[in-house]
Amino acid sequence: MSDLPWKNALLTGASSGLGRGLALWLAKRNVKVYAAARRLDQLEALKAEAGDNIVPLKLDVADASAAFLAVQKLDQDCGGLELVIANAGVGEDTRPKKLNWDSVKKMIDVNVTGATATLTAALPAMIERKKGHLVGISSLAGLIPLPQSSTYCATKAYLAMFLESLRLDVDKYGIAVTSIHPGFVKSEMTAKNKPGSMPFLLETDDAVERMGKAMVRKAKVFTFPWQLSSIISLGSSLPRPLRTPLLQRLR
Ligand SMILES: NC(=O)c1ccc[n+]([C@@H]2O[C@H](COP(=O)([O-])OP(=O)(O)OC[C@H]3O[C@@H](n4cnc5c(N)ncnc54)[C@H](OP(=O)(O)O)[C@@H]3O)[C@@H](O)[C@H]2O)c1
Repeated sequence: MSDLPWKNALLTGASSGLGRGLALWLAKRNVKVYAAARRLDQLEALKAEAGDNIVPLKLDVADASAAFLAVQKLDQDCGGLELVIANAGVGEDTRPKKLNWDSVKKMIDVNVTGATATLTAALPAMIERKKGHLVGISSLAGLIPLPQSSTYCATKAYLAMFLESLRLDVDKYGIAVTSIHPGFVKSEMTAKNKPGSMPFLLETDDAVERMGKAMVRKAKVFTFPWQLSSIISLGSSLPRPLRTPLLQRLR
């Protein structure tokens, strides 16, 4: 018997970082977690740590049509997904002088197309059941333009707007939609950044706890940590002639 509002969950990007942490957080509270990613060995290690509440699922969300069908089938096979978390994401430098098309495409494939496939595959069935919770892991970077991050910021802004708009349609069917915007959190993704370049950096477990609680209370939008979130919302409200030179200095 689950200790949380959901008996099961599909979670993408469960092989490392925030996804791995969220999988453990949910599994410890008796939610059956379909833990998806490409690295099956990492998912098996997760299962060895957390037990039978983890069900490893090899899934490449960059192949969005295949991922869509796989999630749809999982929804049918498991008797109905109750929580779907599109967490899989990639973040790479896109400074224009060294622009690498493969990086740009990968971010769009995973963060935009893959996340959308993950979140929509079970949606018609959820609507029929009048039950379900969709969660997307966007970023504070989706709320403000940042240098050297044009594609990443744009993909995260897409996800936030997708979720905000979707909520307008599905609210009436009892489907909850949560958009989560973390600041800097320790993970494989941020390990490549210079230490000191990430203000208010959080430990993974701390971030996971905050995200888990936001999902339980069905937050519509959850931004954290508040310090960075406040700076970003202040920055966004500045007129462009003031904002642009400030943002350019972040380089
Ligand atoms: N850490 C931060 O500071 C931060 C801040 C804001 C938002 N976020 C967002 O939080 C989410 C998790 O990131 P993280 O920091 O935990 O990074 P991470 O440790 O690098 O984890 C990324 C996860 O995404 C999965 N993934 C990547 N490409 C995939 C693909 N094609 N198909 C399926 N899974 C794929 C990876 O699994 P495989 O490689 O095994 O497939 C991995 O499990 C991302 O959406 C990220 O944008 C992170």
